[in-house]
Amino acid sequence: MCGIVGYIGSRDASEFLVEGLRRLEYRGYDSAGVAVIDRGAIRVCKTTGRVDALHGRLLSEPLPGHAGIGHTRWATHGPANDANAHPHVGGLGEVAVVHNGVIENYAGLRQQLEGAGFVFRSETDSEVIAHLIASCLDTQAATDAARANGAGLRRDVHASLVTAVRMALAQLRGTYGLAILFRDHPDVMIAARLGSPLVVGVGPQEHFVASDALPLAGYTDKIVYLADHQLAIVTATSLRITHRELGAVKPSVEVLQVDAGDRTLNGFDHFMLKEIHEQPESIRNAMRGRLDVENATATFGGLNLTPQQLSSVRRIILTGCGTSWHAGLLGEYLIEEWARIPVEVEYASELRYRNPPVDANTLVFAISQSGETADTLGAIREMKRTGHRTLAICNVVASSIAQEADGGIFLHAGPEIGVASTKAYTAQCMTLAMLALYFARMRHLGFEAGRRIIDDFQQLPDKLGQALQTSDQVRYVAEKYQHARNFLYLGRQYNFPTALEGALKLKEISYVHAEGYPAAEMKHGPIALVDQQTPSVFIVPRGFVYDKVMANLEEVKARGGPVIAVVQEGDRRAAQVADDVIEVPSISESLQPLINVVPLQLLAYHAALLRDCDVDKPRNLAKSVTVE
Ligand code: M6R
Repeated sequence: MCGIVGYIGSRDASEFLVEGLRRLEYRGYDSAGVAVIDRGAIRVCKTTGRVDALHGRLLSEPLPGHAGIGHTRWATHGPANDANAHPHVGGLGEVAVVHNGVIENYAGLRQQLEGAGFVFRSETDSEVIAHLIASCLDTQAATDAARANGAGLRRDVHASLVTAVRMALAQLRGTYGLAILFRDHPDVMIAARLGSPLVVGVGPQEHFVASDALPLAGYTDKIVYLADHQLAIVTATSLRITHRELGAVKPSVEVLQVDAGDRTLNGFDHFMLKEIHEQPESIRNAMRGRLDVENATATFGGLNLTPQQLSSVRRIILTGCGTSWHAGLLGEYLIEEWARIPVEVEYASELRYRNPPVDANTLVFAISQSGETADTLGAIREMKRTGHRTLAICNVVASSIAQEADGGIFLHAGPEIGVASTKAYTAQCMTLAMLALYFARMRHLGFEAGRRIIDDFQQLPDKLGQALQTSDQVRYVAEKYQHARNFLYLGRQYNFPTALEGALKLKEISYVHAEGYPAAEMKHGPIALVDQQTPSVFIVPRGFVYDKVMANLEEVKARGGPVIAVVQEGDRRAAQVADDVIEVPSISESLQPLINVVPLQLLAYHAALLRDCDVDKPRNLAKSVTVE
């Protein structure tokens, strides 16, 4: 789950490679490196840590050259160190490779190659690809030489490279997005894809390779998406694509639809904080053009389904990972409550290998901020394979999931850079709420009820803005409990997903253990954790289950556990029992989770700062999880 880039043309390759890697750092930031062909040699610069560190090195030791590849790593095989950083060089320096994916049979291949005299310098699975290609280049060169001598033929050099690469790829089991440089052929680069996304950018007299479209923005607006088993043979002036079985494929050049987006901090200390504060605006953007006040419903342009198909939906599956899965849980409550359609929320990683009975009237929605999450992509592919319609709820427009689904809805939340998802979560919840209204109004929900829901939707941005004002109070709470090693997050019904999301935020950026639970389930086990050092964060808005959650809150207090309560403004009762109270603005019960999550995002943020953690790039994580 790494980011790869490549360049061939007349620019200084390193310049594009470094900028491209910066834009791909959301895929991993354990190490970064580039390889450039310079005066007949492949020269490599790589380092543990971020692209900034690589850039620093390149400033002191520039790598000039017009053909190069680069990589930003999320470690799978072998720790994050310089040796394991990509690019990896194969043979005696004749090829360099950057790889995104996992080679499952690398151990056997490595043994075989070591037996044949190849010297390994890293613990990665990827290095076998470099040596394997070098070995196949040798074999192919010998075959070419024999043929040429026998028949007096002139060698087609690029065809020989392709044959050698194909020979190597045929021996790999697993997934790859690859960019390959050849020392003795500086005019050509080969890119190959199986299971890991890869694109080629087409410019006048130059070509770019990247894991996704983002690095290309501002360099070219012409893009070719490679498919599995395709291989691109790229020179400065030409692009040829071949498929393992189909042979030559005509490149389908599309117009690039992304720009690099606003990637500045705009005065905030961290992207996460900026993105938390952008939520009133991102919610407005998610709603823009989608509220049909006249008909008291929502409208969506890209579902690509007829009204007949939509009204025959009898079951919905929502699938995703992490925060996106949490948004799905809230979607389940809303769709079932308003539209009365049965919903199941599935972890994509489970759905992809299960074989659930899914009938023709079931719609599958994949929820993903990045649109690149490998498990979510795997799940919709599996659903498509079995003939089901799949729709995407994505933020990144040109992403793989958005491309592969039959239709969908974009979040329009703008680029989310912080690894911890914040504004994408609330935009996903908002989108699912609109979807619930849409399905409900196609069925039994009356005009007046629809109008009331729309009124609530329209109040959300301002109320989210008011919830942001809890930040100082939340910082005080974070300071008070900064030495706690465990937290419980408890909520019920619409706010059970909020509890899960609050706990995930704290875990991932402050490295403090936190468990999210339905409040009433606590007494079936987790209550054993309650002691004076374990704060419980209760999400306890007024409404249907208020008294019940308050009872759970009292149970924790009775056992000496400190309680932080997120309540609606003016709630005196909770204030009397809880140790700390965070008041947020009130909205209808079903939309309250979108407001309640804001102080929880801020709590995680302040806790992470107090612990001196890297808020935007927490350890061991990546923004986009592109491996299984
Ligand atoms: O891009 P996706 O929404 O598909 O990502 C899914 C999860 O990896 C993601 O939500 C992850 O849990 C976040 N780091 C949570 O903040």
